[in-house]
Amino acid sequence: MVKDKAIINRLGFNNDGLEVFIQNILKSQWRNQGGILGLNIGKNSDTSIEDASFDYLKSLTRLYPYADYITINISSPNTSELQTLQSGNRLINLLKEIQEKRKELTDIYEKNVPLAVKISPDLKYDQIDFISQILPTYGINGIIATNTSLSRKNLTNLRFSKQSGGLSGSPIHDTSLKIINRLKEKIDSSVEIIGVGGILSGQQAIEKILAGSKAVQLYTGLIYRGPILINECIKAIDQFKLSKNKSFI
Ligand SMILES: Cc1cc2nc3c(=O)[nH]c(=O)nc-3n(C[C@H](O)[C@H](O)[C@H](O)COP(=O)(O)O)c2cc1C
Repeated sequence: MVKDKAIINRLGFNNDGLEVFIQNILKSQWRNQGGILGLNIGKNSDTSIEDASFDYLKSLTRLYPYADYITINISSPNTSELQTLQSGNRLINLLKEIQEKRKELTDIYEKNVPLAVKISPDLKYDQIDFISQILPTYGINGIIATNTSLSRKNLTNLRFSKQSGGLSGSPIHDTSLKIINRLKEKIDSSVEIIGVGGILSGQQAIEKILAGSKAVQLYTGLIYRGPILINECIKAIDQFKLSKNKSFI
């Protein structure tokens, strides 16, 4: 996939469980050094979709004290049926339960940890519009667009394209931009958009901001470009903001 600057991953959420997760957070110096820590939660692969909220509420409760924000991941393609939580009553019921739990946690810890929902790049416009309508109703603060894709559009390397898993990197940049554009149009401004998907240059980070993102994230770009990509994106966004301000003077 090197030629396409892409990855197909089918990792799923293999992990050592919540308590080890918390121990790892406590060992990390990231937050002490001023880093913003976002924690990402999903359901276990052996929890049925009907019981999914149990896993989200348990993770939310245990992780709440340690997070600067929490991402509710309902879009990973590698956990069976997870993406069905993005639609209809499954989304409404999950967010309702999360909102109730969040009220309790806000009182206990005397802080309101921002919550973001992470969505798939494979959603159709009517699904995006539904999500846009529902998220503010349940007090969600952010939407992260997007996760990896089941589509193999824009992939030239056909040797690996039939492999199962989620596609990330360059081929999904434009698709995730389209989703961000639609969100910007449809979602209430109380919900901030975080743009992610195929950022491999500072210019692409700016494109995500121009489309309506408040912040950006990247993953696959780190593999192809290394950590220097982070500096490149920060510089590009800073310069862009500066030039935008000048044009208003
Ligand atoms: C190896 C790998 C593992 C990932 N694991 C997760 C995950 O556990 N939860 C999640 O929400 N997204 C996960 N993602 C998706 C990324 O966070 C990101 O949304 C996606 O890869 C698109 O961005 P990119 O093109 O910059 O990689 C993973 C991506 C990769 C490549």
